[in-house]
Amino acid sequence: MEQTQLDKFRIWFDDYVAGFYGGDETVNANIKLKDDHSHRTCKEMLYLAGELGLDENQKLISETIALLHDVGRFEQFVKYRMYSDAQSVDHCLLGLEVLEKNQVLDEIELQEKLLIQKAIEYHGRKELPPGLDGQCLLLSKLIRDADKLDAYYVVMKYYKQYRENPQNFKLGLELPDEPGYSAGVVNELMSGRCVDNRKVRKLNDLKLSLLGWVYDVNFTSALKRIKQCGYLEKLLVFLPIDEDTEKIREKILGYVNFRIEHDGK
Ligand SMILES: [Fe+2]
Repeated sequence: MEQTQLDKFRIWFDDYVAGFYGGDETVNANIKLKDDHSHRTCKEMLYLAGELGLDENQKLISETIALLHDVGRFEQFVKYRMYSDAQSVDHCLLGLEVLEKNQVLDEIELQEKLLIQKAIEYHGRKELPPGLDGQCLLLSKLIRDADKLDAYYVVMKYYKQYRENPQNFKLGLELPDEPGYSAGVVNELMSGRCVDNRKVRKLNDLKLSLLGWVYDVNFTSALKRIKQCGYLEKLLVFLPIDEDTEKIREKILGYVNFRIEHDGK
């Protein structure tokens, strides 16, 4: 891949997204959320690519994946007014359709186009499909980590805004903000597992499930970044303090520290 091709993708992306902004404030806020997320994910991706010592071509492909991974989100929100794939459409597959329809990736080598498509397709799945290897596995793991890094940044920012000014909060929380949390969520985290989305019933469950993402982080470099930014501690501030959440704090922070000390990159 060439730098000029990535430059073209950026121009196409900005132009494509610009078409979704209009007179509806709620739509604009949600489009901006994913617009900004896509650009910031590029930065997280480059950070990880640098830490892992990827070559220039791999970096260009990685950044393209990061820029385009959520390209399906815009049409998804405008059509369904939500980001829940379960209740609307698989935004990863929708993104691939958008790219095909607009012939965005047609100028790059077929092998590289396939790698980009696969990484986009798999980025939102609960788990990567078995049997992936080589570049496809590497790039699919990278986008999942880069996406999580920026998602932590985003939720922290929005939880803060929501706490400070709940009346003016324009982005749908999609879950009831009730006291307490579900016992099933605690059990999953204490067993070292990511929380199954079906167990997430209220906002606090969602916050807890975000702590559990660390179990699904592929690269220690991403865990180091999560630690440096203090995302887990910041998330814990938005949760009730009790015996369960104290245990979870110990378990999650202990897990991250263990991997940072014992794993490679
Ligand atoms: Fe996504």
